[in-house]
Amino acid sequence: MSFYVTTPIYYVNDVPHLGHTYTTVAADTIARFKRMCGEETFFLTGTDEHGQKIEQAAAKKKLTPKELADNVVGRYYKLWEKLGITNNKFVRTTDEYHKTAVQAIFKKLQDNGDIYEGEYEGWYCTPCEAFWTESQLREDNLCPDCGRPTAKMKEPTYFFRMSKYQDALLKHIEAHPDFIKPESRRNEIISFINEGLRDLSVSRVTFSWGVKVPNDPKHVIYVWIDALVNYLTALGYTTDDDALFKKFWPATVQLVGKDILRFHTVYWPTMLMSLGLPLPKSVFAHGWWTVEGQKMSKSLGNVVDPFYVTDKFGIDQVRYFLLREVTFGLDGDFSYKALIHRINGDLANDLGNLTTRTLGMITRYFDGVIPAAGEFQDTERAIHTLIADTAKSYVNHMNDLAFNKALLSVWELVGALNRYIDSMQPWALAKDEAQKDRLGTVLYTAVDGLRALSYFIAPFMPESAVKLRSQIGINAEIAVDNVSTLEQSAKMPAGGKLGEVVALFPRIDEKEMMAAIMQDQSKDTPKLQEAVSTEVEQIGIADFEKIRIIAGKIEAAEKVAKSEKLLRLSVNDGVGVRTIVSGIAKSYEPQDLVGKTVAILENLKPAKLMGIESRGMILAAFDGERHHVVILPDSVPAGTKIK
Ligand code: MSP
Repeated sequence: MSFYVTTPIYYVNDVPHLGHTYTTVAADTIARFKRMCGEETFFLTGTDEHGQKIEQAAAKKKLTPKELADNVVGRYYKLWEKLGITNNKFVRTTDEYHKTAVQAIFKKLQDNGDIYEGEYEGWYCTPCEAFWTESQLREDNLCPDCGRPTAKMKEPTYFFRMSKYQDALLKHIEAHPDFIKPESRRNEIISFINEGLRDLSVSRVTFSWGVKVPNDPKHVIYVWIDALVNYLTALGYTTDDDALFKKFWPATVQLVGKDILRFHTVYWPTMLMSLGLPLPKSVFAHGWWTVEGQKMSKSLGNVVDPFYVTDKFGIDQVRYFLLREVTFGLDGDFSYKALIHRINGDLANDLGNLTTRTLGMITRYFDGVIPAAGEFQDTERAIHTLIADTAKSYVNHMNDLAFNKALLSVWELVGALNRYIDSMQPWALAKDEAQKDRLGTVLYTAVDGLRALSYFIAPFMPESAVKLRSQIGINAEIAVDNVSTLEQSAKMPAGGKLGEVVALFPRIDEKEMMAAIMQDQSKDTPKLQEAVSTEVEQIGIADFEKIRIIAGKIEAAEKVAKSEKLLRLSVNDGVGVRTIVSGIAKSYEPQDLVGKTVAILENLKPAKLMGIESRGMILAAFDGERHHVVILPDSVPAGTKIK
């Protein structure tokens, strides 16, 4: 069976925060669980890089949209690597293959007669990249979703015939109770559809950062169309290389935040219907995190930085907290205190103690060698039954994405094992040589319980599962090819040696930790947002010396045919005349540059641009709108080195 899970693709106008981390950790956990059960799994995440919002955010930072995107995407890559995220692919909407496929998809919608030209008159919310009718707006023309001001727009646009699919969509939702989850959200969407679906404006003409409408480049394809189809393009849809698409579409579950459910359960399925493709089996909307009761927002300065929080508390601890603290589907509240309580309670006390004391006793009484079990009594049989029952409810809850219930049932097993040790009192058995066999049985059962637990916790806390398995001396790699393995007990090989025993989850001193956090918060640390432009890699002088920048005199300049951006320049470099192709045509007329002395990067590897070999690069500043070439005084001879 194949399993395909997706996260939304994240906007790159902002660096990742706890909310983004939440969806991705949830998707990773379910993907790891499915792989553990032997299902062929594909897990997709990525970034949403086009649209007016990104264009404006980049301009504010004096970056091009692509520069901003590259910068923020770098942070996403780092974060997912740090958190052990096992996505099979990371899609960027600025990837060439994606852009080509978006156009092919748009064309298909057109060919199916579902796109027509018209004029849109209505209200647009740029932060939400959403269209609204006058009657949908809140007072003072505020966006009904985010409450920010909308702008009236009247522009030529292409429309998608969404209205045509209203009945089919309602029927689908009724016939497939799992299509929209949780249930309460499903009703919300049904009422939205019942109010009547209008055709959707799917192109914009007032900005340019996006994928162009095929054969009509004045129009940029609406960013939500561009974004939603990532779930198909990443699998190679519309290309010859579409084996993944054939294998994994339709998606098994698409995780989204509650704010973007409408896009995923109205726009998205109607587009799929038009394309003649099956709909995802399930779209699951999770809730939102607040921070100490308040909305997470930059202006309140309470945005939780996932790098910070995982540095301070540990990766698995944060992953566990996110999925244990709140029912998946409901809103939740983050606080450092709640995090500390979960870590100290569930992890350090319950699971941590169970591990340390079991392994401590095996070390003390059996020289660190797993004892063989003697005869099992009812007490042990009860544990075996409990492991099997836990596995059953764990699997059911995981399949329902009820992460906290799955963990609750696992922690019942943790509690039962702790109580089992308390009542068997191995330390008392150890005092009586005649009870050695019984002592072995008890400790065997406890360590076998840890073995079972190492499976259950693995999707949530992968590093800790590996640590636990190596401490109990079994193969750290988890290979399970069917779920019944999870139900088995008494599978611990006897005679094996324990690995090095160290606390899995160190206890946190609440007072000390809270003081440290307060201190960090009071420091004038750069705000998250600023991290985008200030995070520049430092280089040494040796790195700089690899770069040769010299003065060059432009002797001739012309536009490159069929290109809006490129100029072909003949530049005297003091030795001869070289050709440099430069992307500054939107900022300069060729004749304005002739005779100018400019700074050029001399030792850039030659590259072909529009079939012309370019040797070197003209240096220029880009202010978000235009280029400003670095111009040197005429008296500087061509070839002079710039240091
Ligand atoms: N780019 C669109 C999605 C396109 S999918 C085809 C987008 N991006 S986003 O970066 O703004 O949001 C991505 C996800 O983060 C959404 O699912 C959103 O619900 C989630 N979260 C943003 N803030 C959040 C919290 N405070 N809490 C939980 N999730 C939150 O929307």
